[in-house]
Amino acid sequence: MNQKQIIIRTETPADYAAVEHLTREAFWNVYRPGCLEHYVVHVLRNDPAFVPQLDLVMEQEGELIGHVMYMRAAITADDGREIPMMTFGPISIRPDLQRQGLGKYLLDYSMEKAKELGAGVLCIEGNLDFYGKSGFVLAGTRGIRYHGEPEQELVPYFLLKELRPGFLDGVTGVYHTPQGYYVDEAAAEVFDQSFPPKEKLKLPGQLF
Ligand SMILES: CC(C)(COP(=O)(O)OP(=O)(O)OC[C@H]1O[C@@H](n2cnc3c(N)ncnc32)[C@H](O)[C@@H]1OP(=O)(O)O)[C@@H](O)C(=O)NCCC(=O)NCCS
Repeated sequence: MNQKQIIIRTETPADYAAVEHLTREAFWNVYRPGCLEHYVVHVLRNDPAFVPQLDLVMEQEGELIGHVMYMRAAITADDGREIPMMTFGPISIRPDLQRQGLGKYLLDYSMEKAKELGAGVLCIEGNLDFYGKSGFVLAGTRGIRYHGEPEQELVPYFLLKELRPGFLDGVTGVYHTPQGYYVDEAAAEVFDQSFPPKEKLKLPGQLF
C-alpha cells in the first residue's frame, strides 16, 4: 500500500454528508439489498456511547477514502462486574480502493488511538478473514459470549482483540452490542431517500 499523502483525522460536521455517502457506497448490497449503515453512522453520532475522539476519516490527497467510528460498550462478567470496553463500526473503505491494505491501516491506527484512550479490549461482529489480520480471535475462545447466542457455541462472527494483554485474564461473560446499532429500518429507508436513487439487489452471500 502506498501510504503517501494518507491522512487520518477526526471527523468534523463538514464531513458528515460525505462520510454517510461513502458508508452507503461501501455497504450497498453487501450484507442485504441496499444497506442501513449510512443511517447507523448518522444516528450513532448523537448516541451517548459514541466516542468522538475515535470518529476518524481517512483522506488521500484531500479526498475522503475511509471512515471508522467507535462506541463505548460493556461486558457483563459472570462474577457480576460490568467491564467497560469498546466496539467499533461501521468501518468503510471507498469501494474502488478496497483490498489494497487501506482498511487494515485505518483499523490498526484507530486501535492504537482506542488503546491510548484506555480501551482494554474490543469486540466486533465481523469477518475473521479481515479482522484476524489485525489480531482478532473468536471471542468464545477467550470466554466472552455473544448475547442471544447459545452459551456453548463458538460464534464464528463474534470476535475480540485485547488491546492491553491480560485485560481479560480471569474474566468470562457476555458482550452486549450497544443499543444504538439497532436502528429503525423504516426510518433508515426514509433517510435513504435523501440520497441519489440506487438499485437494491438480492445477491448471493448476503446475510439478510
Ligand atoms: C471491510 C473493509 C473495511 C476492508 O478494507 P480493505 O481496505 O478492503 O481491506 P484490506 O485491503 O486492508 O484487507 C486486508 C486483508 O483482510 C482480508 N479481507 C479484506 N476484505 C475482505 C473481505 N471482504 N473478505 C475476506 N477477506 C477480506 C484480506 O485477507 C486482505 O488481504 P488481501 O487483500 O491481501 O487478501 C472494506 O472492504 C469495506 O469497506 N467493505 C464494505 C463494508 C464492510 O463490509 N465493512 C466491514 C463490516 S464488519
